[in-house]
Amino acid sequence: MAKQMQGKVCVITGGSGSIGAASAKLLLDEGASVMLVDLSEAALKKTASDVGTGKDTVAWCTADVTKSDQVKNAVARTVAKFGKIDVLFSNAGNFGTVAPIADYPEDVFDSVLAVHIKGAFLCAKHAVPQMNDGGSIIITSSVAGVTGDPGVYGYITAKHGQVGLMRVLAKELAPRNIRVNTIHPGPVDNDFQLSVEKKLGELIGRDGTQFFNDMIPLRRHGRPDEVARSVLYLASDASSFTTGTLLMVDGGMSI
Ligand SMILES: NC(=O)c1ccc[n+]([C@@H]2O[C@H](COP(=O)([O-])OP(=O)(O)OC[C@H]3O[C@@H](n4cnc5c(N)ncnc54)[C@H](O)[C@@H]3O)[C@@H](O)[C@H]2O)c1
Repeated sequence: MAKQMQGKVCVITGGSGSIGAASAKLLLDEGASVMLVDLSEAALKKTASDVGTGKDTVAWCTADVTKSDQVKNAVARTVAKFGKIDVLFSNAGNFGTVAPIADYPEDVFDSVLAVHIKGAFLCAKHAVPQMNDGGSIIITSSVAGVTGDPGVYGYITAKHGQVGLMRVLAKELAPRNIRVNTIHPGPVDNDFQLSVEKKLGELIGRDGTQFFNDMIPLRRHGRPDEVARSVLYLASDASSFTTGTLLMVDGGMSI
């Protein structure tokens, strides 16, 4: 069967994280070239070697997505290495904390909005002029992008904000046939979610993982590779008439 991403150039932020790496592996397997972007050189090197196909199709570049010059450099490095960009997967994320409104720290609120919203904005700002017409932008929001929970001020606000950014981009870029969508994973079985669940478990006095499973109609966490398959769908021509949409990958948690 023909590979779905043959010859396509993809940039993945949060590229050495769990969902980023799983998506990189699938996109590479489907014939793409991938630029991994994240904060730590050591983690990027390890991910590139773990997901690499043995061919020269994976590269990495450190960048903090909240810093315009660093994002611009990562985009320039991608173009220099692979040529123009077809897919921007804007996926970097941090969680912040959980606290009642009066106690929620302002610096944490700012840092969470900076990564998810300003980061996704800067990635689009610098990548779009270097994208081929017909490309795809995918932003990782969350089930938290369509629901509310007490005390999760930074994360939930940021994940909702990404939907607004996606909608503006989708309308502006439609004349170039660049599609823009958000994916909304529910709890994923990885370290990011586990650390959230540990903190939550201490707050509520019960097992945080089970607490989430009880709220998910499919009664389990998702796997990074299941999120990656949704990323592949939105990145590829399989979703050629899909733009401006929210793709829930949450086991029904948002129903
Ligand atoms: N894990 C879950 O259950 C879950 C659920 C819904 C949505 N998400 C979202 O999925 C995305 C990926 O998260 P993950 O689960 O793979 O967690 P992860 O912690 O494994 O990956 C997140 C990556 O983002 C990177 N990052 C953080 N700040 C950055 C910055 N300023 N610049 C560049 N990179 C930065 C981190 O270094 C990390 O590698 C995030 O946006 C997260 O909010 C995760």
